[in-house]
Amino acid sequence: MCGIIGYVGDGAAAPILVKALGNLECRGHDSAGIATINDGKLCVEKDVGKLDQVCETHSLDGLPGNIGIGHVRWATHGDVTQVNAHPHSDCKMQIAVVHNGIVENYQELRTRLESKHVFVSQTDTEVIPHLIEEYMDAGASLEEAVLKASKELKGCYAFAAVCVKEPDKIVATRRESPLVVGASAHRSFVASDALAFLEETNRVAFLEDGEMVVLGKNVTFLDKDGQPVKKEFKEVDWKWDQASKQGFDFYMMKEIMDEPQAIRRATMQDKKLVLEMAIGILRSRQVVITACGSSRYAALVGRYLFSRLSGQFYNVIMASEFQYFSDSIDNNTLVIALSRSGETADVIQGVKRAKDNGATVYSMVNTVGSSLARMSDKVLYLNCGPEMGVATTKTFVAQLALFHLLSFTMANKLDDGVQQLLDICPKIDGCLSKNSKKLQGLAQQTRDKNDFYYIARGINFAVAAEGALKMKVTSYVHAEGMSAGELKHGTLALIEKDTPVIVICPQDRTYEETISNAHETKARGAFVIGVSEKMHPIFDEWIEIPEVDEVFQPLVTVVPLQLLAYYSALARGRDPDKPRNLAKSVSVK
Ligand code: AGP
Repeated sequence: MCGIIGYVGDGAAAPILVKALGNLECRGHDSAGIATINDGKLCVEKDVGKLDQVCETHSLDGLPGNIGIGHVRWATHGDVTQVNAHPHSDCKMQIAVVHNGIVENYQELRTRLESKHVFVSQTDTEVIPHLIEEYMDAGASLEEAVLKASKELKGCYAFAAVCVKEPDKIVATRRESPLVVGASAHRSFVASDALAFLEETNRVAFLEDGEMVVLGKNVTFLDKDGQPVKKEFKEVDWKWDQASKQGFDFYMMKEIMDEPQAIRRATMQDKKLVLEMAIGILRSRQVVITACGSSRYAALVGRYLFSRLSGQFYNVIMASEFQYFSDSIDNNTLVIALSRSGETADVIQGVKRAKDNGATVYSMVNTVGSSLARMSDKVLYLNCGPEMGVATTKTFVAQLALFHLLSFTMANKLDDGVQQLLDICPKIDGCLSKNSKKLQGLAQQTRDKNDFYYIARGINFAVAAEGALKMKVTSYVHAEGMSAGELKHGTLALIEKDTPVIVICPQDRTYEETISNAHETKARGAFVIGVSEKMHPIFDEWIEIPEVDEVFQPLVTVVPLQLLAYYSALARGRDPDKPRNLAKSVSVK
């Protein structure tokens, strides 16, 4: 899930590429590098580490030339080393390539090419510049060589190439991995995400699988046979300041504080579309919800809301497993796919399979124009604006709000649902300000703990799982979220003196049983952190949440868990925005 960028225009390329890579760094921070062309020479600088470190040691923003490509890496093939960092080049150092994706047949191609080409890295990517070199040596233009090379690649890819023989152009293409083109008066861009160049322009165009773009004096689009194709530029309504930290130390905290606003924006939907989707869901013979990671936990809350508010039970299937259920997916099936990025490869693949079987697809997405949005029959947008922290926070609550809108509409109470959501927002503000200090203290108090358990029942079971995921993502500790009733069937064996157990137990029909489960952990010496409207003697620490109707509880119970994960990262000296080994958009399977 690397981030790639290409730029050509009237300004020096290097500072623009470095700024763009900064906006893409949530996609990978194992290494960074750029290549520019100046006076017919290729200048390449790259190294291991976060972008600001590589900038410092290699003065990345000082490379000469008005044309260039850049990359931030999330390693898949080859160790995290300087030689495996991108850009990768051909034997003659005339071609440079940056790539996001996985070339599944790279070994076979490498074996074929090694008779004439010298490989220096362990990556799958390096076959691409050597293939291009092969075709250009045979007389092909850069476009033709990129087209021919891409036809030899198996797997998913988005890559951009430059060559000193044609020093005024960048050629890029994609299959399955995201690629978007941006254009302003005198500058053009190609990138993994529009966020990369949003400061420069919000006019974008999207490449379909197999299509190519040539950036140079003009922007030219070619279809999968290399023939010119017309493409319309659209305006994305994301404003650059939405993607800035606005004075916060980290995006994660800024985005948690954005949550009341994110819910308000999520309610701004085309009511006719919400109604059509609600009717479509009610009329479908089979409805399957699919997603990954935090989005799947939002889907589990959604499933609960459909059952609670409209008496309908629908299954949630992990997207990475969805393809194995394709035998039971047909044209009577409605698939509801959730993906903040709209680019998660597991979701895309599952949805492609379902569509091949004739299924209808509705999706909930934050990124306008993303692959999932473009392949869906109907799309609800989260309207959250960019989310830069790898740990999802405001998009999680916005996903919940969309499920509220759909399930209230299925119960014929959309306006009531919207009003109740808006009434929750000030309560979330209160929850944020009331608990921050205490959670900061708790994070310090538990900073030497490496095992955390989150328990809850009913609608909050999924919130317990989400809270545990956030703690894993930000603090690199073992954390498990589960139904409180499941504890005594195994996990209770892991509870010992001072083991932190976070008990999410609002005063509803789950309260008594959840409290007795908390007693079971206390009996084994657990340090019980209670998340509830009222203090209880079993709590060693109490996190107070506002009283809300059961169906809205996840909107208030998840907030303290996000804050605890955030402060735990800080207490352990971790960067909550760029957790190791993870990336914001998981565009490989
Ligand atoms: C969690 O903090 C992660 N960012 C991750 O679990 C994420 O939810 C998952 O990768 C799904 O991403 P998506 O919503 O963009 O498809």
